Amino acid sequence: MKKTVYLASIALSILLVSCGGKEEKKDGFSMNRQKTETVKKKAVSTDKASTRIDLESTGVGPVSSIDLGALDQSLADKGKGVFDANCIACHMIGKRFVGPDLTGVTARRNPAWIMNMILNPENMVKEDQLAKDLFMEFNGAPMSNQNISQEDARAILEYLRTAN
Ligand code: HEC
Repeated sequence: MKKTVYLASIALSILLVSCGGKEEKKDGFSMNRQKTETVKKKAVSTDKASTRIDLESTGVGPVSSIDLGALDQSLADKGKGVFDANCIACHMIGKRFVGPDLTGVTARRNPAWIMNMILNPENMVKEDQLAKDLFMEFNGAPMSNQNISQEDARAILEYLRTAN
């Protein structure tokens, strides 16, 4: 007798589960659609690290925040000199090269992130997700540390603001 009740309750719960399942399917449909859309959106934004826009992350390194004021043209001119001497072996403005095209990089990245990428590239590609993704996109070509002073890195940043 006990066994029959037990079996009957199992049968009932299977029934309930399958009924529940059917009902869920109805709104499960719209839920699934939403899910797919979120995944798609993510896929677009994580697609290519070089074109992804992330203005929040400040990266890993000595610079935690930078307030950009009005453009300082003489600082930018100084930065161009430092850039031409240390960066053009791998970077071009207007074209992808060994490293990413730096055109408009200040519209894609937080200024502190850019400074940290210049000052601390080894740790950035190990610890910062975006830098890691860039490293993957550029087939594991590491950006070398050019031993730039923080002052010169700031000048390069100013120059990059003009590289649009
Ligand atoms: C040896 C080649 C090399 C040199 C030299 C180099 N870089 Fe890079 N850079 C790269 C590569 C490759 C990446 C992509 C990340 C990676 O693979 O490490 C990169 C990434 C960057 C990024 C991030 C770009 C983005 O789209 O977010 C910035 C900014 C940058 N470099 C600035 C500089 C500056 C400024 C200098 C000069 C001080 C410099 N780099 C020197 C190779 C180089």
